[in-house]
Amino acid sequence: MTPSALDPADAAASLAPSRRRARITAVTSGKGGVGKTFLSANLAAALARRGQRVLVLDADLGLANLDVVLNLHPKITLHDVFTGKATLEQAILPAPGGFSVLLAGSGLVEYSQLTPVVREQLLHIIKTVTPRFDHVLLDTGAGISDVVLYALSLADEVMVVATPEPTSLTDAYATIKVLATQQKRLNIHLTVNQASRPGEGRTVAQQLQQVVDRFVVPSVGEPVKLEFIGEVPVDPSVREAVQKRVLLLEVMPGTPAAQAVNALAARIDL
Ligand SMILES: Nc1ncnc2c1ncn2[C@@H]1O[C@H](COP(=O)(O)OP(=O)(O)O)[C@@H](O)[C@H]1O
Ligand SMILES: [Mg+2]
Repeated sequence: MTPSALDPADAAASLAPSRRRARITAVTSGKGGVGKTFLSANLAAALARRGQRVLVLDADLGLANLDVVLNLHPKITLHDVFTGKATLEQAILPAPGGFSVLLAGSGLVEYSQLTPVVREQLLHIIKTVTPRFDHVLLDTGAGISDVVLYALSLADEVMVVATPEPTSLTDAYATIKVLATQQKRLNIHLTVNQASRPGEGRTVAQQLQQVVDRFVVPSVGEPVKLEFIGEVPVDPSVREAVQKRVLLLEVMPGTPAAQAVNALAARIDL
């Protein structure tokens, strides 16, 4: 790998030419605990049901827990791939829900900093898996650390997940601001999770758009569009599914949250 390939801008560019490759959607948030992993896993199941070949990459390297949500006990994780103990092929595992996963396990704290190894490995993984899938979801960590921003730089689309709480919105704004100013993303997807009444998601999206228009657009010099993908209601069945370590979409497909996730999948399945 040439040194220039380690630059995020170059990394994205080097992914661009191939048309027959997976669409990469990063699922991210400003604040932690907003529902990224729940949404990634269930969106993957919904997309798989729509006939897509889907891979979820647990890109929350420091605090990975996709394995917990899916009740998987992987013998091989990204750590083994990073250290050369296993091949990428060996680490791609089938998940309940009919999609594939690349799991980080919980012991990857040493990869929570963006070292050249982490950059190279993430780029290599993305380049290797994208020709084989239709959709790759990156379940990232929260916040604007170097690792998170690098993972976001590899994605075609970034979906920011926020809840209607003021702290979550403030942190979502920080993420959006960095995406627009540093990565020049002018279209950012927004999903509102844990909405407490119908329509709250759209209201929240409009409020965020106003703040972006006022404080971010002037420094970017171009319009920045927050594209509202949809809302998922607060629903006790989500917690129940996570606690039982089952996929909501499989076990309780008729619940409001499961139906909302299906609607999100229809929006992002282009
Ligand atoms: N729509 C929802 N309704 C109720 N609880 C939810 C909802 N979405 C997420 N949760 C709760 O939030 C917890 C954290 O979600 P998780 O996906 O692990 O967040 P993150 O990956 O953003 O840190 C879940 O275990 C679940 O209990
Ligand atoms: Mg998570």
